[in-house]
Amino acid sequence: MKSLETKRMILRALSLDDLEEFNRYAKKPHIGPMAGWAPHTSIEESRAILNMMIKENEVWGITIKPAKKIVGTIGLHVRNFDNAMLNQKEVGYVIDDVYWGQGYMVEAVNAVLNYAFNELELTKVLCGHAKNNLQSKRVIEKCGFIPTGTDVRDHFDGTKIDIQMYEMTYTHYKELNQ
Ligand SMILES: CC(C)(COP(=O)(O)OP(=O)(O)OC[C@H]1O[C@@H](n2cnc3c(N)ncnc32)[C@H](O)[C@@H]1OP(=O)(O)O)[C@@H](O)C(=O)NCCC(=O)NCCS
Repeated sequence: MKSLETKRMILRALSLDDLEEFNRYAKKPHIGPMAGWAPHTSIEESRAILNMMIKENEVWGITIKPAKKIVGTIGLHVRNFDNAMLNQKEVGYVIDDVYWGQGYMVEAVNAVLNYAFNELELTKVLCGHAKNNLQSKRVIEKCGFIPTGTDVRDHFDGTKIDIQMYEMTYTHYKELNQ
């Protein structure tokens, strides 16, 4: 997969060499639950998820220059039949809490949007956050996504959770970036 470079970061393909770094933040109690997944309880669990992301082939490891180690991931996902039929994908992301609040994820999302519209030629990129995840809400707002409605999804603890959904259409992206 193609690496994407921003001012401060390189988004690159993941490999099993990233396992230790991935597990380091994936086991923290307050990171995964914000994105709907349970904190990892073993290195083997992290290995299985990392393998899945490698196979998906559209999940990048986030590195901060000049370091080579990953501090998070960002990916484009086909979540449902409509996504597949309408040439749309959903962006999802996570970054280790050590790096929160420095605008890294806005920079990463913008690089992925550029790739999604200019190289993949998607018609729309979707994004969503649990209604209490105000940090992700701010990332989505700062990137210029438009709110569309509420989706109800499964939370890792077996409950249902309300997700505020947003979209960025190809046309809106071009308007913001002309
Ligand atoms: C959501 C997330 C990706 C944001 O990444 P980031 O690089 O920190 O994003 P930003 O620097 O733009 O900060 C976003 C907002 O987080 C808030 N924030 C920053 N640092 C914070 C901290 N240490 N604690 C709480 N909130 C914080 C700020 O309000 C900021 O908004 P502002 O720019 O209006 O001040 C990151 O918090 C994360 O990985 N969270 C866990 C996984 C997750 O929620 N994924 C998204 C699922 S929808």
